[in-house]
Amino acid sequence: MKKLLDFITAEMELAFRTAGYDASYAKVTLSNRPDLCEYQCNGALAAAKAYKKAPFLIAEDVAGNLQDNKILSSVEVVRPGFINLKLAPMFLAGFLNEMAFSKTLGVETEKEPKTILVDYGGPNVAKPLHVGHLRSAIIGESVKRIMRFKGNQVIGDIHLGDWGYQMGLIITELEKRKPDLPYFDEKYTGEYPEEAPFTIGELEEIYPTASAYAKEHEEYREKALEATYLLQSGRRGYRAVWQHIMNVSVADLKKNYEVLKVDFDLWKGEADVQKYIPDMVEMLKEKGFAHYDEGALVVDVAEEDDNKAVPPCMILKSDGAALYDTTDLATLVEREKLYSPDKIIYVVDKRQELHFVQVFRCAKKTGIVRPELELKFLGFGTMNGKDGKPFKTREGGVMRLENLLREIEEEMLKKIMDNRTVETAEAENTAKTVGLAAVKYGDLSNQASKDYIFDVDRFTSFEGNTGPYILYTIVRIKSILNKYMDEVRPSQGDVDYDTHVGDEDRKACRIQEPASECEKALMLEMAKFNEMIDVVYEETAPHRICAYIYDVANAFNKFYHETKILAEEDEQRRAEYIELLRLAKRILETCIDLLGFEAPERM
Ligand code: ARG
Repeated sequence: MKKLLDFITAEMELAFRTAGYDASYAKVTLSNRPDLCEYQCNGALAAAKAYKKAPFLIAEDVAGNLQDNKILSSVEVVRPGFINLKLAPMFLAGFLNEMAFSKTLGVETEKEPKTILVDYGGPNVAKPLHVGHLRSAIIGESVKRIMRFKGNQVIGDIHLGDWGYQMGLIITELEKRKPDLPYFDEKYTGEYPEEAPFTIGELEEIYPTASAYAKEHEEYREKALEATYLLQSGRRGYRAVWQHIMNVSVADLKKNYEVLKVDFDLWKGEADVQKYIPDMVEMLKEKGFAHYDEGALVVDVAEEDDNKAVPPCMILKSDGAALYDTTDLATLVEREKLYSPDKIIYVVDKRQELHFVQVFRCAKKTGIVRPELELKFLGFGTMNGKDGKPFKTREGGVMRLENLLREIEEEMLKKIMDNRTVETAEAENTAKTVGLAAVKYGDLSNQASKDYIFDVDRFTSFEGNTGPYILYTIVRIKSILNKYMDEVRPSQGDVDYDTHVGDEDRKACRIQEPASECEKALMLEMAKFNEMIDVVYEETAPHRICAYIYDVANAFNKFYHETKILAEEDEQRRAEYIELLRLAKRILETCIDLLGFEAPERM
């Protein structure tokens, strides 16, 4: 479906051309004086120079061609040469009706769908999930849904950090504590126990203990490095411990991501691509891309016009161990082989940007990926506490994700119980749903690359640009629709009006010309949906969805306060309002689904 702006622009282009001016001056934008008009065209000002004519006269020529226009109900020329535009109410209503009939609400899906892989989440196995991983999960999930909504084939991959030094640390610590376990007996050839030698709780304690100890004790650190190396070279007992760590951690991770309503198509990790490393290294050497530098194998990736030094990509350390660069390159080998995607989007902390510059350059330069594969780094900023420093617990430690969500939920529950209209059990469930929306919206409403302040009070507020405010608005719409069904159309019982209403029915009460300024304002906001989605898609920018639904919610609430909806006496008008509300609900619900959360029935 065409966009509103395209319709208006086409009209303006025709008017410019008919008046003898080049159509390229017909650019239309949203009005920056909404009190005066809805859209504006400043093209006459630009054309003035080229045609050596006063802008006002040009504007008048153009406006002369826009009288009795089907799309524009008002075209006003203002000095020095602005053209102020208002949309024809009938046209607007028709546009919304078309939207209502479209499965995608007027968004055009890709004619040639792409295969897009989104690499997000990226937790490190055996370390508890902390708030640093929250952003990747939230943003990545939304990006995945947006790409899918546009009709692409999208694969979400969690890309676990499951192969590094942390594994060596855990093995070393476990051996220190339980040296008699068969995993540490090199001569052992039997089956290893099925049961893991630790619980998730123990595992979470083992890692930080070992990590801290290694920082103080060089010998221990060397042992852990050695264990990492041996694990990577396939020592049987270590692989068995590794498998236990994986089983215990991944089960726990799955629980956590489920709470976040974040889900992955692939649970692959760094370890999965070990098998590609030897051949890849061989290729890099053979083709002359890699060389040794102080014992380490590296590939130069600096380019002439770099204004900051880009160090070489590290392929193997001097002890032969693989590194972060190596696993990311090998992952690209696998992704090309298995999925041959058109695009890969990495949703990772922006402090890792340099790493990805190196990896992308190296992969392109060495032919690990096809030249046409688009590699995109979507770096996000830090989630800070109110003090402007990275978010910490009250005690100053790293805040665990579970605790953070609990804190939000508790706060939410308090607020819900304050203006309570529901039973405690329902309130608790609602608090979960709204709490998650508060966190996700609080995050996504900021441009990803920016740092932001995690502010529990603000995020959980029912007022302002927050998740709970958006949900509150949706719940308000739902409640009006339900009342309408109960009171006004009781004969239909509690059928789902969205799915049961027939086409005939729909035609009978289609959205009509707005009856008030505030209704038109709401309709104008709603009509921007497909335009907004395309910008979000082009820019990979979920925050623009937030900005949009905030505008729609504000416009709706103004309309709600100024309009008798259910109390409207004219039956036809009331039915039309309901039709408009139903579309508003669909728009808002589609948007929050793209953001990765949902609205409760009541709150
Ligand atoms: N595990 C990494 C970390 O916690 C993030 C992984 C991001 N993805 C990637 N392909 N490197 O820093």
